[in-house]
Amino acid sequence: MAAETTKRGGFGGKLAAILAAAGSAIGLGNIWRFPYITSEHGGGAFIIIYLCCILFLGLPLLIAEFSVGHNSKCNPVDAFSKIKRGWGWLGAAGLISVTLIMGYYFVISGWTLNYAIASATNSIDGDYGAFFTEFTTGTWAPLIFTYIFILANHFIIIGGVQGGIEKASKVMMPLLFVILIVLAVYSLWLPDGREALGNVFTPDFSKVSGKTFLDAMGQAFFTLSIGMGAMLVYGSYFKKGTKIAGTAISVVSLDTIVALTAAVIIFSAGVENESGMQLAFVAMPKVFSAMPAGNVWATLFFLLLGLAALSSTISMHEAVTSYFVEKRGMSRKAGAWLVTFIALALATVASLSLGAWSGFTVLDMNFFSLLDNFTAIVMLPILGIMTAVFVGWIWRKEDMKAELTAEGGIDAKTYPVVRFLLRYVCPVLVSIVFIFGLIDFFNNL
Ligand code: PFF
Repeated sequence: MAAETTKRGGFGGKLAAILAAAGSAIGLGNIWRFPYITSEHGGGAFIIIYLCCILFLGLPLLIAEFSVGHNSKCNPVDAFSKIKRGWGWLGAAGLISVTLIMGYYFVISGWTLNYAIASATNSIDGDYGAFFTEFTTGTWAPLIFTYIFILANHFIIIGGVQGGIEKASKVMMPLLFVILIVLAVYSLWLPDGREALGNVFTPDFSKVSGKTFLDAMGQAFFTLSIGMGAMLVYGSYFKKGTKIAGTAISVVSLDTIVALTAAVIIFSAGVENESGMQLAFVAMPKVFSAMPAGNVWATLFFLLLGLAALSSTISMHEAVTSYFVEKRGMSRKAGAWLVTFIALALATVASLSLGAWSGFTVLDMNFFSLLDNFTAIVMLPILGIMTAVFVGWIWRKEDMKAELTAEGGIDAKTYPVVRFLLRYVCPVLVSIVFIFGLIDFFNNL
């Protein structure tokens, strides 16, 4: 077993495993997406629903993914088919989805780089909205930053699981936490900070609708990187005897703390009513610019966003690379380059679809939004339901139990609860939310 682990690479220990998986979870989803959907849906009320989704749907599914990976010790496609023949497609569907996500996620990641540099050099002057539109709809500038980001990501992957991913996580994650704490403390010091915060976190149940549940679940899945093979592959790199449920609880806790802290930072800065990209890239720099040493805070904020994005993209890339290496027999270098080229191609089209190629649309959406909506509304729930069905109904009960008890080494009190949630609660609730989500989406077209 040890030889096998060494050959395919693996994390050195418990802390590395938690940091890498938390790195995958903590990303753009936490820092710009969570705050704005929270304010859209009535602040505190949304947070309560979101936390229930994390606890009753996200956490058991994360445990399920880690368990499948750790048990099979292989890439997502082989992992499912090794456990039950004929189920490799579920891994493949996850990898296709994560590849599509990379297509637009890398573009936003590239923007963070430009914004960090522009903030540090104080070169965003005047109209923040115009700066954003001009930059993102341009041809070469956003592409160049996106390519730099993709290449940085590539060289971490080439470094291997321990030499690349683990090392990078051990540097990036502590840095990310420090920046987050500094920004949070600073924003709470702001004159109106605490009051603004009180307003946002006070539950307003009148804003809760069916859509609130859809968005809360979608956010919970996205933020925990559920169903995409990323967490499965990281689970496959955990050492023998790792406490799967304990690791998942640590990852979920860190991810939730970061999301809530990001909301604290953004709301106490007085940004409430902006949505989407505008929040992180227009409203925040504007707010910072009015503060003493504003460009320092803005630079820190975009560094935070960039670090969070990078620790997520390496998990996406690794999931697909592991497939080419293990299933297609490529060297790690060749596999990584292939994934990098696919990412470069998709990101190029996604970036241009905001500007030069914005005329090409499907269902009224450009390529960028198409990638985002298709993965979030269609793929994420389907993968969530099928993963729950696979682990809850198809996988042998004893094997799942062995994973949760670390081969019988610990007493896993959580096991019956996790199994119940995976067999009944997840498939039923996620299906309901999925169907209503689709109806809502087509009604709004
Ligand atoms: N969890 C990441 C975020 O919240 O930004 C996004 C993500 C990472 C999705 C890895 C999918 C994935 F495989």
